Amino acid sequence: MESLADSKVWADYNAAQATRSVRPLCLEAMALAGPGTGRGAIDLGCGAGKETLALLNGGWQVHAVDSLPDTRERLLGIAPDADGRLSIEVRAFQDLRGLPEADLIFAGYSLPFIHPDKFGGFWALMLNALRRPAMVAVNLFGDRDSWADVPEWNFHTEAEARQLFDGLAILKFEVYDADGQSFRGPKHWHIFDVIARKP
Ligand SMILES: C[S@@+](CC[C@H](N)C(=O)[O-])C[C@H]1O[C@@H](n2cnc3c(N)ncnc32)[C@H](O)[C@@H]1O
Repeated sequence: MESLADSKVWADYNAAQATRSVRPLCLEAMALAGPGTGRGAIDLGCGAGKETLALLNGGWQVHAVDSLPDTRERLLGIAPDADGRLSIEVRAFQDLRGLPEADLIFAGYSLPFIHPDKFGGFWALMLNALRRPAMVAVNLFGDRDSWADVPEWNFHTEAEARQLFDGLAILKFEVYDADGQSFRGPKHWHIFDVIARKP
C-alpha cells in the first residue's frame, strides 16, 4: 500500500513535469511498434500524463495506470478529447489483478517503486498482458543506485535485469551509471533503459 508520504512526493514530482518533453524511451518504443491506430497501449505510472498524451496523439487506445488519487482528473484535464480511447485505472501496481491486452506497454520511472516482495508477481502479470507480437519499454533501477538501500523499492543487477526479459527479444538495453540530480537532491543513478519485443 502506498503511503501518504509517497503520494505527496509523487504529486510534487508530477507537478514539476509540465514543461519536460516526452520521454525518448517512449518515443523510441512507439517508433519500433509502428502505427498505433486500432492498437492498445498501457502507460504504467502515467504520472503527469505526458506519455499517455503522446500515445493518444499517436492513435493508440491507452490504458493509463497510477496509484495517485487525482490521476483521473489530471489525465482528463490534458486529454479531454480522447474519443473513448483513454481508460484510467487508479490503483497500485501490486494491487492489479489483471491488465487489458496490449501491443505496447510503457513504464517510465515507475516500476522500481514496487515493493520487492510484490515485484515478481506484478512483472509476470505485466508480461502476460502483452499480445504476440508486442513491445515493452521500461526503466529499471540497478543495484549501484544510491536509493538501493530503500527496502520498499526494487533494484536489480544487470544480469537480473536482463533475465527479466527471458523469452523476449531485447532491442535496447542501455545502462546509465553516473552521479546526477533527482527531485530529492544529488544522487548516483544506476538505471537500465530497456525495450523488448514479445515475439
Ligand atoms: C517518478 S514518477 C514517473 C511518472 C512518469 N511515468 C514519468 O516518466 O515522469 C512515478 C509515478 O509512478 C506512480 N507510482 C509509484 N509507485 C507506484 C505503484 N506502486 N503503483 C502505481 N503507481 C505508482 C507515482 O504515483 C508516479 O506518478
